[in-house]
Amino acid sequence: MSTAVSTTREETRPDAVARPAPGPQGHWLFGSVGDFRGNQLPFYERCHEEFGGVAAFRLGHRRLMLVTCPEGIEEVLVTKNRHFRKHYMLRLLKPLLGQGVLTSGGDHWLRQRRLMQPVFAKPRIAGYGEVFTRHAEREIGRWSDGERRDVHADMQRLTMGVAAETLLGVDVDGEAFEIVHRAQTEITEDFAWRFQQPLTLPVWVPTSRNRRFRASIRALEEVVYDVIRQKRERPAGETDDLLDRLLAARDDDGRGMSDRQLRDEVMTLFLAGHETTANALAWTFYLLGRHPHVGGKLREELDRVLGDRPATAADFEQLVYTRRVMKESMRLYPPAYAFGRESVRETEIAGFRVPKGWTVIVSQWVVHRDGRYYDRPLEFDPDRWTPELESSLPSYAYFPFGGGPRVCIGNTFAELESALVLATIHGRYDLELSDPDSVDVWPSITLRPRNGIPVAVRSRESRVESQEPE
Ligand code: HEM
Repeated sequence: MSTAVSTTREETRPDAVARPAPGPQGHWLFGSVGDFRGNQLPFYERCHEEFGGVAAFRLGHRRLMLVTCPEGIEEVLVTKNRHFRKHYMLRLLKPLLGQGVLTSGGDHWLRQRRLMQPVFAKPRIAGYGEVFTRHAEREIGRWSDGERRDVHADMQRLTMGVAAETLLGVDVDGEAFEIVHRAQTEITEDFAWRFQQPLTLPVWVPTSRNRRFRASIRALEEVVYDVIRQKRERPAGETDDLLDRLLAARDDDGRGMSDRQLRDEVMTLFLAGHETTANALAWTFYLLGRHPHVGGKLREELDRVLGDRPATAADFEQLVYTRRVMKESMRLYPPAYAFGRESVRETEIAGFRVPKGWTVIVSQWVVHRDGRYYDRPLEFDPDRWTPELESSLPSYAYFPFGGGPRVCIGNTFAELESALVLATIHGRYDLELSDPDSVDVWPSITLRPRNGIPVAVRSRESRVESQEPE
């Protein structure tokens, strides 16, 4: 999967004989609304089983197409990406993210993406390794042996702290972090609610929910503008967070970003950067709780590679099994479980006709669990990720970070952060699931555990002590 910024040339013209895609009939007026709203994931699975890699359906007046074959996904994201734009649900995010790189399109997006890409280059992200490990250590510093916790809530606070420091230089012990934490939590919860509603009023309509939502955005925005102002006043080079790097970024004409654009990008990186990684980590601890033998193997690697010292970015390559655990966890529980595009012209995907204005959804949840690509697909088996599997998988049979020109800009950041946090926490604690059957998958903006993940935390030191002979 390339992270290079380029837009791909259109290769084929819509074929006049392309067939209409098969799909569920649904209700005469509402289409598949009932099945879809109940839980999208089983609905996607059923479409895939019954109709194959491409299925068309209707939600009221809206026409949609689900694409679950790797070759079709590649067409949507890469070879025919110019036939699509980001889809209508993303417009919900506009009041928060404005013209940021996640929601914008066309030349504006391309300029921003080019400006921002170097900021996310591997060597620069490696510089944050110490921050990732320190935040994980700080998190477990709050834990005590035997305590019951919700590891999803813990991972959310941890990744939010990482985002506040790496993006804005905001310390988690300061007042600004309290404001950021409260506002971000309210915004994320509000979006989770909005995504479930069949219809929502635009945010400018003065309902009490909308007023609260706008107040949260303003609170976050004030911190962001304040930090931008302080940074513009100080000599460059005093600090080196992502915002400093965005402030210094210049395009070929020597132009930088306006304060408004910086605000949009910071809000975007905040939202896109912490929630997804928190879910990836929370699901990983859930899977480790279900599969203690994987936890044992992971610990062997951590003991061998790290011993008693903290994990650093330099360890990343050597933490082979740790990375496989994360990879396998994002196969089964991809934080981005499906996302959409809207066709801007008539086109063709995997031989089926896509009329202009349709929403096309590609789903990691379905493809990552497809038995044609993965043996025993529902089994959590990090060892499956051998170089042989990697080289034999079709492109887009695994795509937790999307692909093509709009591939996740933060993938290196996320991979390093999640590996170092996992290594730090698992090296010191076992997380035993307190009530595994209460854990429920919730396809919200991202793939969340609906009621959190309750665990009892067991310190490794106390275990070792209790096993030592008297
Ligand atoms: C496990 C963690 C993460 C996952 C699974 C994930 C997944 C994704 C996916 C699937 C997309 C493509 C969406 C689309 O094409 O419509 C995306 C885009 C994006 N992600 Fe991530 N992401 C993660 C972490 C991060 C982090 C840590 C950051 C920033 C620090 C980030 C920033 C972004 C941005 C800005 C985009 C939009 C890129 C563009 O459209 O040019 N993500 N992410």
